[in-house]
Amino acid sequence: MAARIRLAAVGAGQRGADVYGRYALEHDADVEFVAVAEPIAERRARFSGQYDLPGEAQFSTWEDLLSGPRRADAVIIATQDTGHVAPALAALEAGYDVLLEKPMATTLTDCVALTVAAEKAGRVLQICHVLRYTDFFTRVHDIVQSGRLGDVVTYQHRENVSYYHMAHSFVRGNWRRADQSSPMILAKSCHDLDLIYWILGERVAQLSSVGTLRHYRADQAPRPDIPLRCLDGCPIEADCPFSAPGIYLDFRPWRSMGLADDQDLSTTLEWPMSTLANGDLRRESIRRALEEGPYGRCVYHCDNDVVDTQIVTMQTEAGTSIGFFMHGHSHVEGRTLRLDGTRATLEGEFIDRRQEIRVTDHRTGATDIIHPEMATGGHGGGDQRLMAEFLAVLRGEGQRPLTDARASLESHLLAFAAEKARLESIVVNMAEYRSWAMAGSTSPDVILPHA
Ligand SMILES: NC(=O)c1ccc[n+]([C@@H]2O[C@H](COP(=O)([O-])OP(=O)(O)OC[C@H]3O[C@@H](n4cnc5c(N)ncnc54)[C@H](O)[C@@H]3O)[C@@H](O)[C@H]2O)c1
Repeated sequence: MAARIRLAAVGAGQRGADVYGRYALEHDADVEFVAVAEPIAERRARFSGQYDLPGEAQFSTWEDLLSGPRRADAVIIATQDTGHVAPALAALEAGYDVLLEKPMATTLTDCVALTVAAEKAGRVLQICHVLRYTDFFTRVHDIVQSGRLGDVVTYQHRENVSYYHMAHSFVRGNWRRADQSSPMILAKSCHDLDLIYWILGERVAQLSSVGTLRHYRADQAPRPDIPLRCLDGCPIEADCPFSAPGIYLDFRPWRSMGLADDQDLSTTLEWPMSTLANGDLRRESIRRALEEGPYGRCVYHCDNDVVDTQIVTMQTEAGTSIGFFMHGHSHVEGRTLRLDGTRATLEGEFIDRRQEIRVTDHRTGATDIIHPEMATGGHGGGDQRLMAEFLAVLRGEGQRPLTDARASLESHLLAFAAEKARLESIVVNMAEYRSWAMAGSTSPDVILPHA
């Protein structure tokens, strides 16, 4: 394989263009995009323009890109959640190595099918569990695996989704409905379930879950007379944390975190503004998107149904108890964790602009404070390192990626089991659940309710 790796993009949206596309622009000695499939003409043209792609390398759908001659060394699939399986299977069948966005698929059966297909084809199928690649979680993993904490007895892991991220993605945006994308525990928290499994290195034996959509619904509206859109003269707009003009035009969440008062932050922040008008960050384009599009809707009057609070309790085969909390009401985006072992306690904060790990030895009382590397780029540097590893594996510099399909399957399994436990108010025996899944069962017991 040539030193400069040639990639094809399936989906040139936020992840395809803004994350992986940008990586290639910043590392053009190592990697280039040579083809794209994207149905939205504006996005396709923008992506193609960045890489000077000729007309014959531009496709409106993955079927056209993947049929015909081999066009690249590997394919990056960054379509929406329900659009992962078909192009991934087709790409593997056509002999491509694949980087696939999470979640792998929206049914457990499809997750298993993808894993089996990649292994049968002998191709790389790397899943974008980007947080495993951060310095923060690598350090937590290494500390736990070194035995420094002794046996881990309990692990509390919180995924604190900020109120504005929740409103953007899971109330107004693409992941607001489980039947159109995937449930919150899969769409968002499969990262966390993956981290928990990887950090402990233990499989879960049993699991239960509760959770609900507590706040972002019509009966929670502060007043009965508020309009369906924030810009339609909403009487509480100025006081509402979820105000669309407040978030996207005045940047209130970022100002409240101390970012510059007098600056138009749309070009420096990019996300989430870039998702409103196909990357067009001009103020008038954003305003028009708020007047006409989904992101201008009142959070109390959307068609969302995914939960804004969920707790999963788990016990591993070794007896470690785990409490995982997800909620969409945090002042700041980030994860917080605490692991208590028989020899030491680890506390960690992985928060926007602040990362710290503290390890306190039980016998001496000494606390070691670690500040992981605050790498630039999305997900605390995880996006960049994930791409770097994908390219290294393609170059033959690594055996298999850290987050290949097999390694990622367990977190997806936990997510499906947690959703089942929540919806049916049951405790799931994971050994039984796992064996159904691995047998490739199509039993309704192992498929998401909406599938
Ligand atoms: N790894 C992470 O941390 C992370 C973070 C955010 C999102 N994601 C995941 O990444 C995926 C993409 O998210 P996004 O925010 O970029 O979504 P997006 O909607 O911005 O991009 C998806 C793109 O796929 C295109 N598409 C649709 N049908 C297609 C087809 N037949 N052929 C080719 N392209 C097609 C769409 O037009 C769109 O531009 C989702 O599955 C999401 O859950 C992962």
